[in-house]
Amino acid sequence: MRTLTVGLGSRSYDICCERGLLDDCGGLIAALGGAARKVFVLTDSVVAPLWLGKVVASLKAAGLDVSSGSVPSGEESKRFDSLMTVYSMFASAGLTRSDLVVTLGGGVVGDLGGFAAATYLRGLDFVQIPTTLLAQVDSAVGGKVAVDLPWGKNLAGAFWQPKAVIVDPDVLDTLPDAWFSDGMAEVVKYGCIRDAELFDALQRAGSREGLRSHIDDVVMRCWDIKRVVVEHDERDTGERMILNFGHTYGHALEKYYNYRKISHGAAVAVGMKTITEIAERKGLTPSGTAARITALCNAYGLSCADGAPYREVCAAIAQDKKNLGGKLNVVLLREIGDAYIYPTDKEFWQ
Ligand SMILES: NC(=O)c1ccc[n+]([C@@H]2O[C@H](COP(=O)([O-])OP(=O)(O)OC[C@H]3O[C@@H](n4cnc5c(N)ncnc54)[C@H](O)[C@@H]3O)[C@@H](O)[C@H]2O)c1
Ligand SMILES: [Zn+2]
Repeated sequence: MRTLTVGLGSRSYDICCERGLLDDCGGLIAALGGAARKVFVLTDSVVAPLWLGKVVASLKAAGLDVSSGSVPSGEESKRFDSLMTVYSMFASAGLTRSDLVVTLGGGVVGDLGGFAAATYLRGLDFVQIPTTLLAQVDSAVGGKVAVDLPWGKNLAGAFWQPKAVIVDPDVLDTLPDAWFSDGMAEVVKYGCIRDAELFDALQRAGSREGLRSHIDDVVMRCWDIKRVVVEHDERDTGERMILNFGHTYGHALEKYYNYRKISHGAAVAVGMKTITEIAERKGLTPSGTAARITALCNAYGLSCADGAPYREVCAAIAQDKKNLGGKLNVVLLREIGDAYIYPTDKEFWQ
């Protein structure tokens, strides 16, 4: 098993990765202390029939008192209203302050279950077992948990670090291609911002199938990058912004389509290509970089094409409330593997 420690003082935790690790998750969780603890596993309606049995069996074999519940699969379950359902599951299970929540699923279950854990009884310990590529390389590491409000995504949230993150790359075997591609946008992003070798390795693998035998290496490199950035900037006030490469334009695109027609990963892929093209035109990034990013995204099922009018999306960015005094920081590439923060003004987007 490979382990990485996220060093955040008293909130430090390990990320453990190994193929087949789900079978041993009980032992790992029992070893966190409080062996007499109750454990509540929250999952979703798609993951439950696939992977919940293994997790529950392993927890029981480790002598833990286990109960579980599931929410419908999909972003709808991250609505504020779902919290009530989750709290009532916790209450029925009789969870107390010293008990533990396990989130088994993608970013939706991790964010919802993590926020419920952060707030129930003023905070319960929780462990993340991410089952989508996006959750394994991104959302499960970093301590951000949240639910959506009617006015926007992730508007009610907290910083609440897990006690451990348990990653079993084998769970990705059941993940549909569309969701795998979605997560690959973040993987390509990590290569772009901090790891030219990772970018090259992804190029060499050339497809999901080509990546299969070393997906665990890829996942670990991604969290190592996120770990270092999060350790330097736990509360997202500076360096953590480089994780947003491709996300300013990507978020504007998701908003343009009302979070429907385009997935997050597809929007980020377009965003990475677009911001790099703009930077190339301004001589801020070497020419040919956007074409390399596009080719890599294409190999992993991300077209980098969208039907949205570029000017309208840029105008929305320029008007965004976040543009304090017309200034907005974006993430650009000095070259593949080396990102930096660049302050823009309205002209940048014209
Ligand atoms: N907290 C953070 O730092 C952070 C970062 C990025 C994204 N997010 C959040 O993550 C969420 C998106 O996460 P996601 O993309 O994982 O979506 P998701 O949780 O909805 O999972 C995607 C789909 O895959 C299914 N699924 C999950 N694991 C599976 C498996 N192993 N086999 C088959 N099907 C499986 C799910 O049921 C769902 O239908 C968004 O709400 C986003 O805001 C949070
Ligand atoms: Zn993202």
